[in-house]
Amino acid sequence: MRNPGAPRIETFISSEQIAQRVAQLGRQISDDARGQPLVVVGILKGAFVFLADLVRRIDVPLSIEFMGVSSYVGTQSTGHVQITRDLAADIQGAHVLLVEDIVDTGKTMDFLLDLLRVRQPASIRLCTLLSKPEAHCMRSKIDYVGFEIGDEFVVGYGLDLDGRFRELPYVGRITGNDPSP
Ligand code: IMP
Ligand code: MG
Repeated sequence: MRNPGAPRIETFISSEQIAQRVAQLGRQISDDARGQPLVVVGILKGAFVFLADLVRRIDVPLSIEFMGVSSYVGTQSTGHVQITRDLAADIQGAHVLLVEDIVDTGKTMDFLLDLLRVRQPASIRLCTLLSKPEAHCMRSKIDYVGFEIGDEFVVGYGLDLDGRFRELPYVGRITGNDPSP
């Protein structure tokens, strides 16, 4: 369907590729947890699709929490992380798995880890569907990465451009705009 002026998106990582990788990550996370329960913390909004698929591939008892953060306007990180929703549960003594859609500069992750460590969890591990190593300027290490990608803007499977395209079942990249009539 043509929609003049609208961003044109091409498939970058297909839903089949994503499903296969998510299953691998789930197995790896389950092995590493050695039967211990996890508190899986999804970072809203972008991680909600990935988290929903990932938790169904993890084979240890778990509970699910969400935190909301915002740092992006359009395709640029503002570098200024804001908490829009805090955790509802106490994570003291818990094994936490932080789930992100994408780590770009890593500033969001550094900020969140500093914030959560103060609450004294037993451990915190990081899992992200996508990572842009060329853009990283972070202190934290990422424990589980779905796919490493170049320094380009992607949408779909939870990721948005100004609130749009989160519902796409694949990860896509913007290749331009549909021509105006
Ligand atoms: P960071 O703090 O620079 O690592 O930015 C992390 C956040 O920026 C992610 O949680 C996303 O919400 C957003 N972000 C970074 N790169 C992209 C992208 O390519 N598409 C959509 N959102 C992105
Ligand atoms: Mg995000």
